[in-house]
Parts: sequence; C-alpha cells; structure tokens
Amino acid sequence: MSVEFDRQKLELALQSGRNGENSLFSLHIFDHLASTNQTLWNLLAQGAESWSVVIAQQQTAGRGQWGRQWISHPGGLYLSVAIAPKLEASASYQLTLASAWGIANQLRCYGVDVGIKWPNDLVLNGRKLGGILTETKINHGYIHQAVIGVGINWTNPVPETGINLEMWQACYATKPIPCLETLTSVVLRGIESGMECLVKEGINILLSRYLELLTNVGDKVYIHDLAGTVVGVTSQGELRVSVETYDTTDIKTTELYIEPGTITLGYRKSSVPL
Ligand code: BTN
Repeated sequence: MSVEFDRQKLELALQSGRNGENSLFSLHIFDHLASTNQTLWNLLAQGAESWSVVIAQQQTAGRGQWGRQWISHPGGLYLSVAIAPKLEASASYQLTLASAWGIANQLRCYGVDVGIKWPNDLVLNGRKLGGILTETKINHGYIHQAVIGVGINWTNPVPETGINLEMWQACYATKPIPCLETLTSVVLRGIESGMECLVKEGINILLSRYLELLTNVGDKVYIHDLAGTVVGVTSQGELRVSVETYDTTDIKTTELYIEPGTITLGYRKSSVPL
C-alpha cells in the first residue's frame, strides 16, 4: 500500500529558499492516472497555464521515450510540467537537455552523484535512476506548448539495469532526501533552473554544463561498422562521434552526428556494490 502524497509538505518544500515568494507551480496531484503527460495535455486544452504540474503516485499507461512504456509502480515519482518556451521547433531537444542538466544538478546538491546518459537518462552507479520525456505542440515553426515528463525511481522496484534512490541512499547518502515530496521539489526546482539557464544564459552555456555531467564522453561506439568515440552532444541533442577513416594514403578524422533514438548506449555494470 502506498503512503499518501502530502501536498502541504511539497508546497512548503517549494516555498523554502524563495524568500517568501510563492512558487511558480500550480499543482494537480492524483492517486493514479494513465499518464501524467496525457492528463497535463488535457488540462492545457481546458486552459491550464504554464508551470502547471501533474503528479501521480502510479500510472497505468506511463509513456517512455521512442514509444516505449514506462512501468510505473507505486513508490516512484511520476510528474509532468507544462512550459511555453519561445523556441523554434528545431530547438525542441534543448528542453530535454535543460531538464536533464537541471534535475541532475539539483540532485547533486543533495550529494546524489547523478550523471546523464545521452540523451535523457539520469544515471547513478552506472544504472538508470530516471528518464525524461518531452512532448511539444508546434505552431508556425515555433513551440506553442511543451510538457516535460519525468520518472524517477524512489522506492519502486527496478529492473537489473535500474537503481532506486532508496537503495542508493541506504548505502551512500550523507544528507539523504527524506521523502517523496522533497524529491518532487528537487526535481521541480531542477526543471525550473534548467529552463532559466537555457533562457537567460543560452544554449552554449547550458550545453557546457550538460557535458560536464555526461557519462558517455570517451565511450567507444560502432556506427555502420565504423568504430568511433563519443566526443560530445550538439545543441540539437545529436551525439557527436569522432571516427577515423583510412584510404591508401591518409587517415582522416571526421565527426558524425547521431540523432537521439537511432542508437542506444548501454549501461555500465556498476563498479560499486549495492
Ligand atoms: C524514458 O523513456 O527514459 C523517459 C520516461 C519518462 C517517464 C515519465 S513518468 C511521468 C511522465 N508521464 C509519462 O507518461 N511519462 C513521463
């Protein structure tokens, strides 16, 4: 049986550190839903504003990247946030980069050693802690509305390649995140700070921060039988892979840009026991 989500606790956590200013977020909290992303799109169609948030304790049809299902047992964090950024449609992926960086960075402030696995995974000890699914509505070449969906493993059961924060905190935390409501506030502040960085400081600064947390730099990958090395990510979210090609006289180094969803980078076996 899951513990009931405490709205007041979340509101207090969101207010703290804002010098009495109210938080941006308008909260819609549910026991269970098909998908928080879907419910938020429905609320937006009925006139809900930017920074509306949908939280569910369980999802029956959680959506993952590339059309996959996101298994959503009780105990996990499942939330979606609505934003209306002034961005061209071609820059849509920047919302995922900004959210991934912002959430990872906020978790790191709690001593959780989170990294980012390209393009949208949050990883801890080489295993998946959570993921981000950004959905957009485009109008005349610009993003009209966007929904950022985040799933984080808190106390829910996870597959072998996954990890939940409860398992990790039991072994390593110096300043544990005490409850799901605090984790929710950390994630919401993460999304807010990621968007603020993107809007105020621009994609180049955001990208340099994202790259500092990217765990894949230096990984060896194969693209159509060519061996390459991951060297970074572009501002459109493509993976930058450096490959060497040989002809009879020359060795040439070129860079390939790999679109999200076209290759999968594996998880490392955890080097640290849990
Ligand atoms: C991934 O595949 O890594 C991204 C998963 C995103 C899952 C979250 S859970 C809350 C929100 N609602 C959904 O239906 N999906 C996202």
